[in-house]
Amino acid sequence: LHIAVLMGGWSAERSVSLQSGAGVADALESLGHRVTRIDMDRDVAARLADTKPDLVFNALHGTPGEDGSVQGLMDLMGVTYTHSGLATSVIAIDKVLTKQALVPNGVPMPGGRIVQSADLFERDPLPRPYVLKPVNEGSSVGVAIVTADGNYGDPIAPDATGPWQEFEELLAEPYIRGRELTTAVLGNRALGVTELIPKNGWYDFDAKYTDGLTEHVCPAHIPDDIADACKALALEAHRLLGCKGASRSDFRWDDERGVDGLFLLEVNTQPGMTPLSLVPEQARHIGMSYPQLVQAIVDEAMA
Ligand code: DAL
Ligand code: MG
Repeated sequence: LHIAVLMGGWSAERSVSLQSGAGVADALESLGHRVTRIDMDRDVAARLADTKPDLVFNALHGTPGEDGSVQGLMDLMGVTYTHSGLATSVIAIDKVLTKQALVPNGVPMPGGRIVQSADLFERDPLPRPYVLKPVNEGSSVGVAIVTADGNYGDPIAPDATGPWQEFEELLAEPYIRGRELTTAVLGNRALGVTELIPKNGWYDFDAKYTDGLTEHVCPAHIPDDIADACKALALEAHRLLGCKGASRSDFRWDDERGVDGLFLLEVNTQPGMTPLSLVPEQARHIGMSYPQLVQAIVDEAMA
């Protein structure tokens, strides 16, 4: 096949996408496909029209490659592409819309509310500790954990460094103590459960992409009922949102509360494919190499 790998772009996750795209493009070449690498710019439509690929492998992360925009463009152009389509992407990139789609269907997720960043200097929106995050970023870009130092109601100091400086609006969620788990879904199969144990602090951008800063325990050393629940919830979320190709559902588990302490945080429809990424790692664990994973995503898109 002639496959165009879309990567890069201008989201906050550009550097991550360039790594995902390079890995995917190398794998596709090793599999014998003809590959055109496209670092996405505003002329992507013209580039796709010139390239006329049989398939686009979407290795973009964030906006606009994961939010439905690029998917809509490719729908209009009649281009076949990997991973989720327009409607799924619009919902899954937005952490509020995702809750609205999944919680009424029985998927446990933390409650949350949108706050104006300026109001954070007046008063805490939730009891501490709580988490602030942009509604539609990935890789923990713009995430802050507001710790229990200070009393509930204490405002954030106006000169404190944090995402409130960059984002006008943020989603506030209660912080769930305990453990960080993730499950990849490929087609109709949940691949496994990985626990992420950062060496210091929490699983932020640096911990995600710096080799050695986070221990990946795959399969996670957790009770069977928790592992089964992660897989069932990730599959159910993938199905409810209509995901295609690979998705990855991220969880927090309060291990003092058993299965009632398990919460899905979000569904990633363009999960990372870098050397440190979790979907390739779970695939490897069940005996699927990186090129085999890439080919499986291609096959699903072409089916
Ligand atoms: N947003 C990053 C790429 C991930 O979900 O893996
Ligand atoms: Mg994400």
